[in-house]
Amino acid sequence: MAAPIVDAEYLKEIEKARRDLRAFISSKNCAPIMLRLAWHDAGTYDVHTKTGGPNGSIRFEEEYNHGANAGLKIALDFCETIKEKHPKITYADLYQLAGVVAVEVTGGPTIDFVPGRKDSSVCPKEGRLPDAKKGAQHLRDIFYRMGLSDKDIVALSGAHTLGRAHPERSGFEGAWTKEPLKFDNSYFVELLQGESAGLLKLPSDKVLVEDPEFRCYVDLYAKDEDAFFKDYAESHKKLSELGFTPS
Ligand code: HEM
Repeated sequence: MAAPIVDAEYLKEIEKARRDLRAFISSKNCAPIMLRLAWHDAGTYDVHTKTGGPNGSIRFEEEYNHGANAGLKIALDFCETIKEKHPKITYADLYQLAGVVAVEVTGGPTIDFVPGRKDSSVCPKEGRLPDAKKGAQHLRDIFYRMGLSDKDIVALSGAHTLGRAHPERSGFEGAWTKEPLKFDNSYFVELLQGESAGLLKLPSDKVLVEDPEFRCYVDLYAKDEDAFFKDYAESHKKLSELGFTPS
């Protein structure tokens, strides 16, 4: 693990915020939306221009009003209550810490968290996050732009083990799994089962089964939860550190 680039006092504050987030997320059952917030702050990264990424810019109206971010104001307000208690922590670190804690408290893998992200007040242009109605090429275009791989695409899509779609936010409806507050490999199990009553599959979920490169990982993660947890923890760490090189 890289050595933290923050001082001991900041590190202590991070540990306090982590405990507060654990309690808050468990009591509010808001792990899914907190994880989605962390992903949407980070997922704007462009490896070529080194813009976007986990830099807290989603806190600005200009960015949280992007269509893809519908509903995330709720998670931003939740994070604000933690920020008030721990003002030293940057928004960029706070959102990524919330994402890591959301996975942890719902039973997912432990994700290594290295603090030290800086806040930016520059919002990326709309359109950097994936469109759920599009296919494999689109997913690759978006995730390769972040500097991520096919394996990252499939492992990270497994985050849809948590939460649901809301018609008033995305136009889609329903949860991907029968226990949307439990982080496990059931997203992949359900994906291979095809249409099952009441469960959601976005077009961008279905392509993971249709595309042969993606499919290998779906098959692996459906039968081997340990392999999923290991790869998910690695890919999530990469996502949370896009454009950030702790040294
Ligand atoms: C929810 C699309 C990848 C985490 C959603 C929703 C859509 C969507 C349309 C429903 C939003 C709503 O109506 O509330 C996509 C697409 C992806 C993708 C097209 C491309 C692969 C990811 C990744 C993560 C993630 C990489 C995290 C690592 C979540 C979570 C929810 C969600 C946790 C549930 C939110 C809630 O319950 O409020 N996603 N997503 N998604 N997404 Fe994704």
